[in-house]
Amino acid sequence: MLAKDSPIGFFDSGVGGTSIWKEMIKLLPNENTIYFADSANAPYGKKSQKEIIALSEKNTEFLLEKGCKLIVVACNTATTNAITHLREKYSVPFVGIEPAIKPAALHTKTNSIGILATQGTLSSALFAKTSSKFASNVQVIEQVGTGLVALIEAGKKDSPMIKELLDSYLKPMKEQQIDHLILGCTHYPYLIPIINTILGNEVRIIDSGYAVSKQINNVLLKNKLLNTSNSKPIYNFFTNTTTKVLRKLLMDVDKDNQIYFSKK
Ligand code: DGL
Repeated sequence: MLAKDSPIGFFDSGVGGTSIWKEMIKLLPNENTIYFADSANAPYGKKSQKEIIALSEKNTEFLLEKGCKLIVVACNTATTNAITHLREKYSVPFVGIEPAIKPAALHTKTNSIGILATQGTLSSALFAKTSSKFASNVQVIEQVGTGLVALIEAGKKDSPMIKELLDSYLKPMKEQQIDHLILGCTHYPYLIPIINTILGNEVRIIDSGYAVSKQINNVLLKNKLLNTSNSKPIYNFFTNTTTKVLRKLLMDVDKDNQIYFSKK
C-alpha cells in the first residue's frame, strides 16, 4: 500500500541525480527519499536504448521493492530513452528530467543557445521532438560532454582534466555568441563553478532541478501522496560501487538530517 509517508525513489546512472535531489528537499522538506546510484553501469550516455531501458527497469524494481510511492528518473539519458516504456510497464507515477530547451529558446536575445548533454540524450527521439517544437527558429549548438560523467563518478569534478574538457566544449559555443547554456545531464550542475569561469556572467546556465521539484510536488498533490507529517525525513542512499563519492557530494547537506549510505 502506498502511503503519504512512503519514500520518493530517485535513480540515476550514478551520483549526478543528487543535484536534483538537493533541489527537491528544499521544496519538499517533509518527504522521505531513497536514491539509487547505478554507478557500476555509468555512464549510460553511450549505451543503446535497449540497454538503457533494461537498466532503468532494474533500478525501478529496486525502488519499488523498497516501497517507493513515486519514482524520479533523475537522469536525462534514462528519461529521454526509457520513461515512456517505464510508464507503460509500471503503475507507479514517474517524474523525469529533460533538457530545458523551452525557457532558453524563449529568452535568448542572441538567438543562439548551447546544450551540453550525453550522446544518448541528444540522439533521442524525445529530445528531437522537444527541440523542433520549441527551438526551430533558434540556433542550437549541441555538444556531447564526453568524459565528464566518468570524471565526476571518479570524484574528480574539480580536476584540471574537467577544466580542459569544458574549455574545448564551451569555447566554440562562446564564439557562436550563445547567451544560454542548457545543462542536459544531471551530473553537470556540479560543474557550474568551472563553467562560469569559462563562459562568464553573460551566459545564463539553465538546469532543470527546480522545474522537476515543482513537478514532483504537482504529481504528489494530484495523487494525494504529499507527506504532511512533521517527523524528520529519512534519506537513504544506495550505490552498487563505493559510497565515497556520494558522501563527498552530499557533505553540504545539513548534519541534522537522518542520512544513510549503503552498498546495494
Ligand atoms: N546523469 C545522467 C544524465 O542526466 C548521466 C548520463 C550518463 O551516465 O552518461 O544524463
